[in-house]
Amino acid sequence: MEENKDLLAQVDTTKLPAHVAIIMDGNGRWAQMRGEHRVFGHQNGVDSVRETAEAAAELGIRYLTLYAFSTENWNRPKEEVNALMHLLVITINNEIKTLNENNIRLRAMGNLHCLDKKVKEELNEALDKTSQNTRMDLILALSYSGRWEIVEAAKSIAALVKDGKLKEEKINEKLFASYLNLPEIPDPELLIRTSGEYRISNFLMWQTAYTELYFTPKLWPDFRKNDLYEAIVDYQQRERRFGKTSEQIIQFKG
Ligand code: IPE
Ligand code: IPE
Ligand code: MG
Repeated sequence: MEENKDLLAQVDTTKLPAHVAIIMDGNGRWAQMRGEHRVFGHQNGVDSVRETAEAAAELGIRYLTLYAFSTENWNRPKEEVNALMHLLVITINNEIKTLNENNIRLRAMGNLHCLDKKVKEELNEALDKTSQNTRMDLILALSYSGRWEIVEAAKSIAALVKDGKLKEEKINEKLFASYLNLPEIPDPELLIRTSGEYRISNFLMWQTAYTELYFTPKLWPDFRKNDLYEAIVDYQQRERRFGKTSEQIIQFKG
């Protein structure tokens, strides 16, 4: 596609975000618009995951985090939860080979103990079999919620203080962040949400404090490489000030 080429050409590969996070939303609506069951939308969303991961790796993005299942999603009808878990098992299993061919390491964050036994087994196998890959980390947020993660960190820190292993004065943002999931991964510079919803839905609450947000009306199963390029081009046109003035930023650049 000509248009595709144009957008890719607009991406400045010297100013890529190191970490892009995506709230993959709109699968249910995509299916319902076609008179199909919601699960059909989830199934089609897998192609978007594959395309997006490929595009991100090709560009040179180092970390891609995908919100695949939230803590709150456990409250959906049982059939949908079961179908999603089943889809996860099949997809993870099918993708190991491609992940290895593309040198992509699969990682996971969230309350993984809650996952079905079969999902845990497949996931652990995929995490293990791709653990040596170095081109990009593909992080799945599964049974994840930002508030859960923050509370877990607080509990770990409280236990250390209680046992006299950590002095209260030592608690600061850096220390706190080191008790979150996958603490070595830098905060995302860019967060994309599909399906025209303007909310965070309990995703990376701590890590997105200064993340650039990008919303698109596209439903997740329609999201393609071009859409990722478009989001990155938009991100690259922004000025990230971190509380400073525009003049300070320009001066610093010069
Ligand atoms: C996102 O699509 C996938 C998950 C939350 C698992 P939805 O299933 O939320 O689709 P909509 O928002 O109902 O259209
Ligand atoms: C957020 O989508 C969770 C995932 C994409 C996995 P939801 O569709 O569950 O979000 P809300 O409930 O509409 O905010
Ligand atoms: Mg939704």
